[in-house]
Amino acid sequence: MNRRRFVKMSAATALALRTRTASLFGEQPVKPMRILILGGTGFTGPYQVQYALSRGHKVTTFNRGKTHPGESPKEAEQLIGDRNGNLDALKGRQWDVVIDNPTMLPAWVRDAAQILKGNVGRYVFISTISVYGEVKSGPDETAPTEKYEGADPYNETIEAVKAGGYKNYGSLKALSEKEAEESFPGKTLVIRPGLIVGPRDETDRFTYWPVRIHRGGEVLAPGSPSDPVQFIDARDLAEWTIRMAENRETGIFNATGPGKSLGIGGMLDEIKNALKSDAAFTWVAEDFLTRQKVEAWSDMPVWTGKESGLARAKINRALGKGLTFRPLGETARDTLDWFESLPQERRSKLKAGLTPERETEVLAAWKKQKL
Ligand SMILES: NC(=O)c1ccc[n+]([C@@H]2O[C@H](COP(=O)([O-])OP(=O)(O)OC[C@H]3O[C@@H](n4cnc5c(N)ncnc54)[C@H](OP(=O)(O)O)[C@@H]3O)[C@@H](O)[C@H]2O)c1
Repeated sequence: MNRRRFVKMSAATALALRTRTASLFGEQPVKPMRILILGGTGFTGPYQVQYALSRGHKVTTFNRGKTHPGESPKEAEQLIGDRNGNLDALKGRQWDVVIDNPTMLPAWVRDAAQILKGNVGRYVFISTISVYGEVKSGPDETAPTEKYEGADPYNETIEAVKAGGYKNYGSLKALSEKEAEESFPGKTLVIRPGLIVGPRDETDRFTYWPVRIHRGGEVLAPGSPSDPVQFIDARDLAEWTIRMAENRETGIFNATGPGKSLGIGGMLDEIKNALKSDAAFTWVAEDFLTRQKVEAWSDMPVWTGKESGLARAKINRALGKGLTFRPLGETARDTLDWFESLPQERRSKLKAGLTPERETEVLAAWKKQKL
C-alpha cells in the first residue's frame, strides 16, 4: 500500500469511527439527504464527499471529469458536464441541498440556478474571506465587500480572472454570493473560508512550513512571532459544511481558524513540535523582508504581516454553529505525509515559499546588516 492510499484509508477509517462514536454517545441520528456537490474532486470536495457518505447521505458530484479522474468513491454518483455551457446532466433531477465549490463567476451561479431552481431545497455557496479585500481590521460578516472593477461581471471567464492576477476574485465571489441569494432567497448558506490547508492542497501555501521545518536547521521566520495567522484544515471545513447543510443553516459565515488567536511564532513552534524537528527559527524584521523583496503570503506563506486584517477575521458566528478544529500538529503531520507520497518531480519545487538558496541568501544579508 503506498503512502497516499494509506493516508486516504486512515482518514476514511477515522471518519467511520467518529460517526460510530457519535451515535454511541447519543448524538442525534442524521436524516439522510440527497446532496449534489458541484465540483467534488479537487481539494475540499473529496473530504465533503467522504464525510457525507460516512453520515449516510446520498452524494452526487458534477464536474468535467478532468481533476483526479477515477478517484471518486464508487458509492457517489458522478455526473459529467461543464459549468461553461453544458449543464444537461443536472436537468430533471432533485436534491435536498447543493454545495457549489468551484464558482467565482456569477454567471455560473445564474446558469446552474436556472436548472436547479424548484428542484433543490437549499444552496450552499463556498465563497472566500477575500470578499473583504485588503482590510486593516478583522472583518465580521457585516463588513463591506469589494467592489467589482471590470467591465461586465457576467462576461468574465476563469481565464480572464487568472490572467488579471485574480484582482477581481473577491468582488466576483461577492457578486456570486448575491446571485445565489437572489436565486434561492432565504435558502442560501454562504461560507467564507480563510486559507484552506492540509493534505491535497496543491498550492503549497501552508505545506511549505511542515516541509521546511522537517528539513531542519536554521529556518527564516517572518516578522514577529506575534503576527497573527489564520487558516483552516480542509477536513474541518468540509465536515462542518456538511453538518451546516444537515442543520438547514442559512446566512453568511466566515470560516477560518484556529479557535483562539494564534501568532506565526506559535504556529511554527507547534509544527516543529509535531514533527520533532531540530529547526531553529531566525526572526527577520518585516521592513527588512520588504527591502529584500520577500513577499508576505507568497514567499512567506500563511503570514500576512503585522498590519493586515485578513488574518484577524471574526469567526464567532461559525464557532456558535459548531465549527471545530483538529490539532495543528495533526494537520502538519498529515500534510507532510501526503506531500511525501507525491512523485519526486512534484516535490522537487514547492509552489510557495522561498527556495533553499534564496532563504540562505536572505538570512546571510540579515546577519550582515545586524553586525
Ligand atoms: N484554497 C484556499 O485556500 C481557499 C480559500 C478560500 C476560499 N476558497 C474557495 O474554496 C473553494 C474550494 O474549492 P475546491 O477546489 O476545494 O473544490 P473541489 O470541489 O474539491 O474541486 C473543484 C472542482 O471543480 C470542478 N470544476 C472545475 N472547473 C469546472 C467546470 N468548468 N465545470 C464543472 N466542474 C468544474 C473540478 O473538476 P474538473 O476539473 O474535473 O471539472 C473539481 O471537481 C473554491 O470556491 C475557492 O474559491 C479556497
